[in-house]
Amino acid sequence: MLWALAAVTLALTNPLQVSAGDEEQPVARHYITAPSAPMTQTVEQADAKSAGCKSCHSSTDAWTMHKTDAVVLGCVDCHGGNAQVMAPAGLSKADPAYARLRDQAHVLPRYPKAWNFPSSANPKQSYTLLNREAPEFIRFVNPSDYRVARESCGACHTAEIQAAERSLMATGTMFFGGASYNNGIVPYKNYILGEAYTRDGKPARVLSPGSPPGTVTDAEKKRGAIATLYPLPTWEVTSPADIFRVFERGGRNIGTQFPDIGLPDETGQLQRLEEPGRPDIRQSNRGPGTGLRVAIPVLNIHKTRLNDPFMWFLGTNDQPGDYRSSGCAGCHVVYANDREPRHSLTYAKFGRDGTSASADSTIPRDEPGHRPARGDPGAQHPQDPPERPVHLVHGHQ
Ligand code: HEC
Ligand code: HEC
Ligand code: HEC
Ligand code: HEC
Repeated sequence: MLWALAAVTLALTNPLQVSAGDEEQPVARHYITAPSAPMTQTVEQADAKSAGCKSCHSSTDAWTMHKTDAVVLGCVDCHGGNAQVMAPAGLSKADPAYARLRDQAHVLPRYPKAWNFPSSANPKQSYTLLNREAPEFIRFVNPSDYRVARESCGACHTAEIQAAERSLMATGTMFFGGASYNNGIVPYKNYILGEAYTRDGKPARVLSPGSPPGTVTDAEKKRGAIATLYPLPTWEVTSPADIFRVFERGGRNIGTQFPDIGLPDETGQLQRLEEPGRPDIRQSNRGPGTGLRVAIPVLNIHKTRLNDPFMWFLGTNDQPGDYRSSGCAGCHVVYANDREPRHSLTYAKFGRDGTSASADSTIPRDEPGHRPARGDPGAQHPQDPPERPVHLVHGHQ
């Protein structure tokens, strides 16, 4: 495990690569949170919340993302935005008035550069961008992101949201548990770490649905159920049992001060010079969070899960297998990993490059970063059992 993790991490460390959005200062905006989608409403009420949107988005695969007419929703119920902004018929996309109206109707990002605004293609390698972005904008680009799914889907799918948030595909507990125990970050064999965030992107604790929440019965415990999951701690407070210290320089003279890595005469005492050419025989004297000032295993597991994100983040959008969205859409708005019909079934014909084949003519079709169609997140599951979706979730490192 240790060596496997080390190899993965060294292969990925590219100091020149900065995350999308680094350096960019947030644009100050006044956000209006749209009311949550209601469980029931009249068709007229719903239509009023789609009117302006449809003046540009004049065709689509499924108006509510659900193919059945039984689901009555307006665009704003899920996405937010201003449905009163109307584009006059025949207004050209190239007209500056078109862009103005689009921006009045849409919710705009805090970090336009990171999102390549106004492109609707998801950016490559967005890493933690969703945790910094405004929840209103996240809801606009992906109403099913877990930070906002209660607002867009909660009236009808609270049970699925709660189950999805606790799922391994969201928390990554297996990964955090294995990597942290095997690498000496925490001394527990029972897994306690997992990934989750609040609406505004702060680290969150996950509680079991027990009574009271955060408890499990003895029988559940025996089956391996976990009562509480905590976010990964920061490196300053993790244990010193840091096996990656074998990479640090030891030497003949181990002082009581912070080690000065690679300096042959750190004390300035001539008689205590390190002898050149002799192997380093001991580890450095570094305590937790001192010396090198990083805990390599903690850094490694952060990097690994950001390069291969779970459902709280967008796919990395840089290669086939990684063009998925976050949240429910990450699985239910399907695209193909490859063009082989035996793997990708009905999705194979859309290709594997994350291009759109949506009936919505506003969405460019020649760029990666989209899902092929926006139909029903459900009806995209072909109904014939052998054609149930293969898990096209992410490519593993
Ligand atoms: C004046 C025209 C116009 C209006 C009005 C409009 N849109 Fe759009 N919308 C566009 C265009 C054009 C794009 C594609 C931008 C691109 O990728 O170049 C788009 C993209 C989007 C996207 C994808 C955004 C992303 O970054 O992933 C969503 C979601 C969306 N629109 C929803 C809405 C909703 C909801 C409304 C009504 C509240 C609305 N739009 C009103 C023109 C419009
Ligand atoms: C049930 C909630 C829901 C409703 C209602 C809804 N959408 Fe969406 N929409 C979504 C989800 C979820 C996605 C997928 C986001 C993703 O893949 O990241 C999406 C995606 C989109 C996209 C992005 C497509 C792309 O290829 O990037 C556009 C544009 C859009 N919706 C417009 C609309 C318009 C216009 C309406 C109203 C006619 C509407 N939506 C109604 C939930 C909804
Ligand atoms: C990791 C992938 C994944 C994610 C994320 C996911 N789902 Fe699913 N979901 C599935 C699969 C696969 C099925 C089909 C299961 C089956 O056929 O037995 C399914 C089935 C469903 C069903 C049908 C349930 C039934 O009893 O037939 C609903 C409703 C649903 N999902 C809603 C959601 C919602 C809402 C979210 C987000 C909160 C979500 N899903 C997130 C993979 C996912
Ligand atoms: C107004 C209530 C309502 C809202 C809001 C709503 N849904 Fe649904 N959803 C339904 C109903 C009802 C069905 C079952 C439709 C059917 O059986 O044909 C359904 C079905 C689904 C399925 C189908 C699973 C399957 O294969 O059968 C998925 C996935 C899903 N919804 C996701 C979402 C997501 C994601 C959101 C929020 C962005 C959302 N829904 C918002 C009512 C809603």
